[in-house]
Amino acid sequence: MQIDLSGRTALVTGSTQGIGLAIATALARAGARVVVNGRGEERVADAVRTVRAGSGSEDVTGAAGDLATEQGAADVLRAVPALDILVNNLGVFGSADPLEIDDAEWRRYFEVNVLSAVRLIRACLPGMKERGWGRILDLASDSAVAIPAEMIHYGMTKTALLAIGRGFAKDAAGTGVTVNSVIAGPTRTGGVEQFVRELVGDELPWDEAQRAFMVKYRPQSLIQRLIEPEEIANMVVYLASPLASATTGGALRVDGGYVDSILP
Ligand SMILES: NC(=O)c1ccc[n+]([C@@H]2O[C@H](COP(=O)([O-])OP(=O)(O)OC[C@H]3O[C@@H](n4cnc5c(N)ncnc54)[C@H](OP(=O)(O)O)[C@@H]3O)[C@@H](O)[C@H]2O)c1
Repeated sequence: MQIDLSGRTALVTGSTQGIGLAIATALARAGARVVVNGRGEERVADAVRTVRAGSGSEDVTGAAGDLATEQGAADVLRAVPALDILVNNLGVFGSADPLEIDDAEWRRYFEVNVLSAVRLIRACLPGMKERGWGRILDLASDSAVAIPAEMIHYGMTKTALLAIGRGFAKDAAGTGVTVNSVIAGPTRTGGVEQFVRELVGDELPWDEAQRAFMVKYRPQSLIQRLIEPEEIANMVVYLASPLASATTGGALRVDGGYVDSILP
């Protein structure tokens, strides 16, 4: 399968580290012009250098801005050209006693994880429709369909993204623009690696440590290891490509078989 994204411009939100950084690198490697994003200029500049080095492409720029705010979104949109590919990767997560999550925290999760995506879709979708081609991808999670009791606020935002993806796909019907969600499972990012080490200790080599973690704490996983960020990025690059032209309004899983269901 040859994936060539040359001539396409992509914005990956929240891409100074983790899954977003892997997605930005993979899109650049496939030939797309890529814009990386995070809240601070310095971290964004570092990420631009990392993506350039990892992809061999110089066509990588940064747009700093806090996408949880209207002002931040406006700053980012001013810095980006017309987008062909929008990857709403930005998302925060954490665990909390569900009865202790106050109104402010519910609002923060909604604004960072959901409204940030809706705002960018609202801004980018009309231009994509006019040009007759576009790809919108929202990073959901296994927590969208298997809501963890200690992460209800997070799960709520990811379920909302599935609804938003399906809805905007209908809005884009017949235009050449597709909208999909990617359901990522437990993935090896800095934060998750630290979490694994806290639970299983520092003695075991990484492969054994992650297997011990998965077997004890994430037994539903069929691959019994964490997912590598590049494995999520592979799905995103495919969905962002012309090859995925008949896939829209869907939720595609890269969850290592974590969600115990046949669909989606
Ligand atoms: N890791 C997992 O196991 C996992 C599993 C399922 C789904 N996911 C989903 O995958 C996505 C990426 O997860 P991750 O683990 O890679 O995240 P991460 O390592 O925590 O990175 C989050 C990124 O978002 C940026 N960011 C945070 N707040 C921002 C804001 N208000 N505006 C703009 N950028 C902001 C951060 O950059 P700065 O700090 O530089 O601003 C950083 O680049 C999320 O949507 C997450 O829910 C992750």
